[in-house]
Amino acid sequence: MKFFIDTANLEEIKQAFELGIIAGVTTNPSLVAKENVSFPERLKEITSFVTGSVSAEVIALDAEGMVKEGRELAKIAPNITIKVPMTPEGLKAVHIFSKEGIKTNVTLIFSANQALMAARAGASYVSPFLGRLDDIGHNGIELVSTIAEIFETHQINTEIIAASIRHPQHITDAALAGAHIATVPFKVIMQLFKHPLTDKGIEQFLQDWDSHLQK
Ligand code: E4P
Repeated sequence: MKFFIDTANLEEIKQAFELGIIAGVTTNPSLVAKENVSFPERLKEITSFVTGSVSAEVIALDAEGMVKEGRELAKIAPNITIKVPMTPEGLKAVHIFSKEGIKTNVTLIFSANQALMAARAGASYVSPFLGRLDDIGHNGIELVSTIAEIFETHQINTEIIAASIRHPQHITDAALAGAHIATVPFKVIMQLFKHPLTDKGIEQFLQDWDSHLQK
């Protein structure tokens, strides 16, 4: 399973990239709104150093509007992936983008049937939202594993992005469930490093080293 970072914050993206573990970026309108910047400008900044997939979401709700917006966004850089909501109009747009060779990420996936339809329309990625399903008492990880099994059975190449990640356990579970990618907020990426025994081990090594120098 690969890691993407789920943010539109440039500093977070830069810091996460320096770690050497990030293969792409996902944004959404809520994440962009927090930044108070021009969306195309931010996408130019991100794609100036990110070579992997960078998801940029359309705002229009009709297929024609989505296609118009998506084509403009796709001109910004060759690695822009157009993020489209899981609706009938969204899938019409995905179908058109796929014929034009524009990559797509179908977002707001909450059922296996939605994922299967998105894949059949030609989506490059589907994004099941784990955290939001868990919030309503459903099982987000179970959905990822069902989608993974269906895609495997039917040899579907669409990649599964485990989205709406809230904590480190989601990452391990998504990897085991067969997600190809997890898109992770910066805060959770940093939590992944944490283990009390790592901190304790470093402290002990340094103490031992200091006492050796004093001999
Ligand atoms: C996915 O691409 C979305 O940006 C994201 O994961 C949404 O997560 P949330 O439920 O934390 O808003």
